[in-house]
Amino acid sequence: MYNTDYDMLKRQLASLLEGENHWLANLANTSALLFSELEDLNWVGFYLLEGSELVLGPFQGKVACVRIPLGKGVCGTAAQSREVIVVPDVHEFPGHIACDAASQSEVVVPMITPEGRLLGVLDVDSPVLNRFDSADARGLREVVEILLDASMWPGTD
Ligand code: SME
Repeated sequence: MYNTDYDMLKRQLASLLEGENHWLANLANTSALLFSELEDLNWVGFYLLEGSELVLGPFQGKVACVRIPLGKGVCGTAAQSREVIVVPDVHEFPGHIACDAASQSEVVVPMITPEGRLLGVLDVDSPVLNRFDSADARGLREVVEILLDASMWPGTD
């Protein structure tokens, strides 16, 4: 529907992160890039795994809930299943956590290292129903891969 040019976005991200491997700085800049380049978003950011819950990380948008247990809401479900989840209408998703009442649809991408370690999720929210399709799911999964490749994560070497 939106025909986002993910190849261009991936090139922008790769050059933004080039020569910088600090995980926190890279999460912050990735959220800013996505928020400025993708149309019709009200929130984009990261939740990072700590024990059995996700904790709010760098984001753009309104203040959000800080802790989401694994298996809860869209973020917790995507983290637990390790699958990308596209939600066309958040009101139809059982257990959706409404941080920003403006959110109508969302996509959540788990962040998993090549070694299989779950780091957290990327959460992208829109005030438009049915904003995201399978092309967004694929494009955002590739965006997450670039971010993971470019960054040194705490507890990994
Ligand atoms: N939508 C998420 C909660 C996080 S916020 O929308 C920023 C969920 O149900 O997991």
